[in-house]
Parts: sequence; structure tokens; C-alpha cells
Amino acid sequence: MTNSQRKILVTSALPYANGPIHLGHMLEYIQTDIWSRYQKLRGHECHYICADDAHGTPIMLKAQQMGITPEEMIAQVQKEHEQDFADFNIQFDNFHSTHSDENRELSTQIYLKLREGGYIKSKTISQLFDPEKEMFLPDRFVKGTCPKCKSEDQYGDNCDNCGATYSTTDLINPYSSVSGATPVMKDSEHFFFDLPAFETMLGEWLSSGSMQPEIANKLREWFEQGLQQWDISRDAPYFGFEIPDQPGKFFYVWLDAPIGYMGSFKNLCDRRDDINFDDFWAKDSTAELYHFIGKDIVNFHGLFWPAVLDGAGIRKPTAIFAHGYVTVNGAKMSKSKGTFIKARTYLDNLDPEYLRYYYAAKLNNRVDDLDLNLEDFAQRVNSDLVGKLVNLASRTAGFISKRFDGKLAKINDTSLTEAFLAKQETIAELYETREFGKAMREIMALADLANAYVAEAAPWQLIKQEDKQEEAHQVCSNALNLFRILVTYLKPVLPTLAANVESFLQITLTWDNLDQDLAGHEIAKFKALMQRIEMKSIEAIIESSTENLQVTQTEAPKEEAVQTELEKEPLAPEITFDDFAKIDLRIALIAKAEHIEKANKLLRLELDLGGETKQVFAGIKSAYAPEDLIGKHTVMVANLAPRKMKFGESEGMVLAAGPGGKDIWILEPHAGAKPGMRVM
Ligand code: MSP
Ligand code: ZN
Repeated sequence: MTNSQRKILVTSALPYANGPIHLGHMLEYIQTDIWSRYQKLRGHECHYICADDAHGTPIMLKAQQMGITPEEMIAQVQKEHEQDFADFNIQFDNFHSTHSDENRELSTQIYLKLREGGYIKSKTISQLFDPEKEMFLPDRFVKGTCPKCKSEDQYGDNCDNCGATYSTTDLINPYSSVSGATPVMKDSEHFFFDLPAFETMLGEWLSSGSMQPEIANKLREWFEQGLQQWDISRDAPYFGFEIPDQPGKFFYVWLDAPIGYMGSFKNLCDRRDDINFDDFWAKDSTAELYHFIGKDIVNFHGLFWPAVLDGAGIRKPTAIFAHGYVTVNGAKMSKSKGTFIKARTYLDNLDPEYLRYYYAAKLNNRVDDLDLNLEDFAQRVNSDLVGKLVNLASRTAGFISKRFDGKLAKINDTSLTEAFLAKQETIAELYETREFGKAMREIMALADLANAYVAEAAPWQLIKQEDKQEEAHQVCSNALNLFRILVTYLKPVLPTLAANVESFLQITLTWDNLDQDLAGHEIAKFKALMQRIEMKSIEAIIESSTENLQVTQTEAPKEEAVQTELEKEPLAPEITFDDFAKIDLRIALIAKAEHIEKANKLLRLELDLGGETKQVFAGIKSAYAPEDLIGKHTVMVANLAPRKMKFGESEGMVLAAGPGGKDIWILEPHAGAKPGMRVM
């Protein structure tokens, strides 16, 4: 096969640095990793780049809530992300951060280029502002009553209850979920990227074939509604890069995030003599550039990003590859069902290669959602990988070691080998075009042929007959050779299995070596390569991923259960300081307090932690009227696992003490306390 070397740069979307990696994310990193490993296996120069996406309001607020600096938080999260990816065998050539010197420089340069080109406009706009926290509020941090169905506590711009969509400014009794304050409208100067100036270029780009047809069609709809100026600035306080010559104004996170692809690559180039940044990013670059992304972020990659690049005189992507969303057992991942599975929880229980294989087996090059059905997952992996693939070696390898000095025979009948090798172009093409599911089916069809051959020849019977020794040697050598070809085909998907097979067969598996002849070659002793998935591992994953664990297993505690915590009781057994340190005590603003029909002791409280609201049922009705509580600051246990109670879910506990009745007192910190602050 002619195989001239290509220069390829490939990226996955940059995960936000404020939460853990979950199995939904993993689809993308596994898909990209398989593709990039395939390119490397073919001998191409391919660099797989990623980074954490570290900027923006949610990250700033989350760090505040944790009582640490954003820098500290993103460093900690990045460490966890990198460990998760490494343990899933995601082979990044570089993993960086958007909060880096390289990205600051590139973002600044690109912005200045755009400004020089006349593509940056400024305009004063009016937005909701939190007067207490002194910050502008993104929609998702404003809550209020739905203007249509009047249901309370609806987010920003759409109602969970009736599905209405509206403008945040239409909410009735809006309040800031950061501080509880009523937002006011405030003017501020913003900077806009002149997207409409790129209309002609984008029109051509959309029909260039650089995006899957369903994505191009979707983007064309927006395009036809008329392109708008894109607001790329945010006012302080904001965690990001300050805009040149505009103190107090920052780049909106989605401006510098894709530039983070370049920043991460720059960081790699600076450490390597053999790769040149401009070879990949110059306007006239002939290198290939691909972005793997989820379907939720196609507008940023398919419209804004090519326009920004074009405006700054930089090359555009060769193609954008969007995938669909992962569902688990047919539904959106859910914390209460235990299907919101973190990468780490999976890794604590199962081999990463199982999931890599399952995702590969279900992936195609379209934007369809992908269901991770856990039962089907176990069956598929057990039947394909353990039953068909590994079995081929485990049934034959022992005889080679025991009877034939560990040496393979010269194979007389090469018809199966030839049939296997004849599929290499087909399988290569399927990898290249991201039709991984079809590739897995081709490979497993070959595995079926090999297994049928071994079953028919039954080397375990031949070996018992003195005059059939040569034949047994033939069959086992043939089977191991077919196994070698299958594992080479699967190497991008199963890198650990492939590495183990390399040390077992004592060869390197590459595409160019597919037709290698192993006559007389000595192999190592066979060690078990892969275990079956036990349903109990899957149950353990679900269990660790289910919130309210204690409650779902036993009966929900009665309302009174809360009261006992307030009553005088003998001292509980001693705890260590470490036990105590696990309790996350926070200042909370009592945003709401109300009576509950039929409850004797409980009040329903809504506690605001500065960005997050928690519902708590507190047994303090005998001592407080709701109106006495609203607006007060108190102290809550913020990391108590949620508990299902008769009237709803309680997501924490308010600290209070006293003998009972009228004499119960909640803790009341002084007025300087801010919601979300850590106590201790
Ligand atoms: N930070 C942005 C991307 C910036 S790229 C310049 C972001 N981050 S994310 O953490 O929310 O998502 C990272 C990637 O994971 C996105 O491509 C997103 O589509 C993908 N997925 C997140 N949840 C997913 C599923 N449940 N299923 C499949 N992909 C999912 O977006
Ligand atoms: Zn509504």
C-alpha cells in the first residue's frame, strides 16, 4: 500500500476545569485517541493535543465556594483529569491548560490582529447585575418565578416546569443565585467580534465538506437567520485574560478556549526540536487539522472559530468531527439512578479497555447519540474480547510452550492468513473514516473464522495422538498467527492488550509488519490477557455512583429523625480530628423559609451558598417563624449526602443547638460573613 507520510494535528474539546471527567466525556477522548493511535500505527506524524478549559464565571465561583483561589482549583482539577485520561490510556502528546502563558500570548496576538483588521467593535449594553456581589450575572446565575406558569425558582431563560423560554429580564422576582440579592440592570461597554463580516467566507466554509452534513445543515439554519455580532468581553470580576488596553475587561472564555488548542501545541513545540508550530498553523500550511467535539459545541467550532482564525490570518481546520451524546441504559446520565458515572468510579472497578472496545463497537462517523447499556456492554465484551479474541490464544499457546519448545511452526496452509490480510485496506479505510463500529464487526468476523478453524481442528485432541504432533503444531501456530493479525488490527482500540501480546509473541505489532512470517520464532509463556466482566463490578459502579445511597436501601427516615439530632442525647462515640475535618461547614444565606403542610417540627429552608442553592428540612419550627429566618446568615453542613424525607430531599443540615421547644438556636455569624465561605 502506498503510504506517504501525512502531518496531522488532532484535538479533543477541552474539558472544563471545575468538575470530574465522566463516561460521557470519555466517548470523545476514546474516539479521538483511537483515531490518533491509528494514524500513528500507519506511520503518520500525528500529534494529539488537549488542555483543561480553565476560565469563566462558573470556575471563578466554584473556587470561591471552595474557599481557594481559581489557580489552586484548576491545578488540582487538572491533576485529576490527567490521571483519569492516563488510566484510560488516552495518549495525549500534550495536555496543557488554557490558563497558560502560551495561551495568553496567542489570545492577545489574535485579538490585536482582529482589532487591526477592524473586526472588533464596541457597544454599551445593559445587563443584570448583582449589586451585593458587584458582578454581572450570566443567565444561569439568575433565578426567579416563571412569567408563564408562575412556578418558582426557575433558572435564567427557561422554565423546567412548563418548558417556556423567555429572556432573563422577564423573570418575576428575579434573584441572584450567587448572593440572593435582587439584580438590577446596569450598563457596561462590551467588545464584539464582527462575525457578519465573515459571511461570504462562512458560506463557502459551510459547503466545503469540512463538517458532517447534519452539522453543516444545522449551522446553515443559524447562518440564514443572519449572523450576529459576537460578544467577546466580560467585566471584572472574571477569571480569564485581561483584554489589551482595557483594564477590567476580560476575554470571554469561549474566545480563548479554542485558542487553547494552539497554546497547548505551542507548549509542545517549545519542548521539541522536531516539530514546528508554523508548519501546522500558518495560513498556507499543508498539515491536516481536525477537531473532535460533541454536538453541543458545534456553533463555536463551526462558525466562530473559523471566522476568528480567518480574521487573524491563520489557517482553518481541515475538518470538524462531531459526535453525539452518551446515554446510559437508554436515558440521560442521572445521579439518582447511579448512571452519572465518573471516569474514576469506572476505573476503580473495571479495565479501561472494556469501555474503549464497547465505544469503538458502537461508534460511527455520524452525530447519533450512543447508548451505554450496561448489560449489553458486559455481554458484548465477554463474548467478543474474551470469548472470541483472547480465547484464540489461550486455547493454543500452552501447547507451543509445553510441546514445541515455545517455537512456532512454518505454516503450510496460509489460506486463512491470506484472507485476514486481504481485509487490511477495508479495515484501514473504516478507521480512517471513523466507522469504528464497522471496523470492529469486520475484525470480529475474522475472529469467528479463526475460532471455527480451531474448533474444527481441535488441537487439544491432536496433541494426545503421537502421529498428530506436527498437525497440532501447525494448528496452534496458525491460530497464534491469526491472533497476531487480529490484535494488530485492534491495537488502536486496545493498547494495553496489544502491549501484552507484544511481550507474549516477542514482536512489535505494526501495520507494516502485518505480513510478518513467524516460522521458527520463539514466543514467551502465555499469561492470561483479559478477564470476563462480572455483573457485580457493574453493580458496584452503579452503587458508588448513586447519591442517597443509605436512603434508597433502607426506609426513608421519618420527619422526626431530624429532631433527634437536636435533642439532648448522651455523647456519641469519640471521633478523630480527621473525621471532623471531613465536615464541610459553610456560611449560608437563608434565601427562603417556609412552613410545610402537615409537618409538626420541620421548616423548609433554601440555603444559598453563593452560587449554589440547597434545600434543607430543619426541625426548628418550634423555635423560629419562617419570616424570622429569611435573610439571616447561618452555618450549614454542606457536604452531607442528600436524604430523602417525607416532604422532599434534604441536602444538608443547619447547625443549631438547645434543649428543644422554643429554646433552639441556629448559629448566626456576624454580618460580614458571605454565603459560601468556609467556616473553621
Ligand atoms: N470547555 C468546553 C469545550 C471547549 S473546546 C475549545 C466544554 N467542556 S465540557 O467539559 O463540557 O465538554 C467537553 C467535551 O465532552 C465536549 O465536546 C462535550 O460535547 C463532551 N461531552 C460532555 N458530556 C457528554 C456526553 N454525555 N456524551 C458525549 N459527549 C459529552 O464543552
Ligand atoms: Zn413555567
